[in-house]
Amino acid sequence: MDPRLQRRVQRYGWNKAARHYERFWAEQLRPAQDLLMQFAALGRNERVLDLACGTGLVSFRAADAIGPGGALAATDISEDMVAAISADAAARGVAGDFRRMDAEVLDFPDGSFDAVLCALGLMYVAEPANALREMHRVLAPAGRAVAVVWGARKNCGWAEIFPIVERRIVGEVCPLFFMLGTGDALAQEFARAGFSSVRASRLEASVTFPSADDAIGAAFLGGPVALAYSRFDEADRAGAHQEYLDSIAAYRDGNAYHVPGEFVAVAGSRS
Ligand SMILES: C[S@@+](CC[C@H](N)C(=O)[O-])C[C@H]1O[C@@H](n2cnc3c(N)ncnc32)[C@H](O)[C@@H]1O
Repeated sequence: MDPRLQRRVQRYGWNKAARHYERFWAEQLRPAQDLLMQFAALGRNERVLDLACGTGLVSFRAADAIGPGGALAATDISEDMVAAISADAAARGVAGDFRRMDAEVLDFPDGSFDAVLCALGLMYVAEPANALREMHRVLAPAGRAVAVVWGARKNCGWAEIFPIVERRIVGEVCPLFFMLGTGDALAQEFARAGFSSVRASRLEASVTFPSADDAIGAAFLGGPVALAYSRFDEADRAGAHQEYLDSIAAYRDGNAYHVPGEFVAVAGSRS
C-alpha cells in the first residue's frame, strides 16, 4: 500500500475506533502493556514520550510512575484519540503535552526524553523504520525505547479478521501487520535504528471477550478495520460477523471467547 494512503487509513480509521476502544480492548491488552511497563522500568522525575498513545492506557500508567516531577508527552496520528486522552487527562488532573503526530516524524528536539514507549502501535505505522529512527533521535544519551507489538500471525487466533474484511473491500487494511511480531524482526529493526543492548521477550496470552457481541465489537468497531467496516452495508456486516465468529469458534467457552494471542516486547538503549 502507498505509505501516504496507509497514514490516512490509520488516521481516519482510529478516529472511528476511538470511542469504542477502551470498552473492547482495555482489559484485553493489559498483559502486553504490563510487559512494556516492566521493560521500561520508569523512575520518578523522568521525561517520557508515549507514541501512538491512543486513549492513554499506557500514558497514565507512565504519569503515575514518573510522578509530578516528571514530564509526559503523548502523541497519536488520530485527532480523536488525542481528544480522548486530553479530556481524560484534564479530568484526572494529569499534566502533559498531548498532540496529534505521526510517529514517523516527531516534532521534538533531539535528546528530549529519558524513555520512549510505543504500545501496540508500530504494526500500524506505514514505515516503522522511520519511527524507530525518530525514537532513537529524541532519546537523551542512555535513554531507552520500549515497544510491544502483536506476535506471529499463527499465534493470534483473531487474525482472520483481516482477510474477512479484505474480501469485502478493495485493497488491504494492514498489509504488514504481523511482520514485526514474527521471529526477531522487531529486535532487528531496533538494532538497525541504532539502539544498543537490545532485548526481546515473547508473551503468550489469551484475550477474553465475554460474549459474541464483544468479540465482534472488538474486531470490527474498536480496531484497525473500523474505517473499512463503516462502509459495509447490512449484508456485508452480517456476513462478516458470521465468518469472524466461525473463525474463532474453537475458542468459545459458553458465551465467552478466549482467543489466543501473542505479544513481543523489545527494549533498546541509546548509547
Ligand atoms: C491499538 S491502538 C494502541 C493505543 C495505546 N498505545 C494502547 O496501548 O492502548 C493503536 C494506535 O496507534 C495509532 N497509530 C496508528 N498509526 C500511527 C502513526 N503512524 N503514528 C502515530 N500513531 C499511530 C492509532 O491511531 C491508535 O491510537
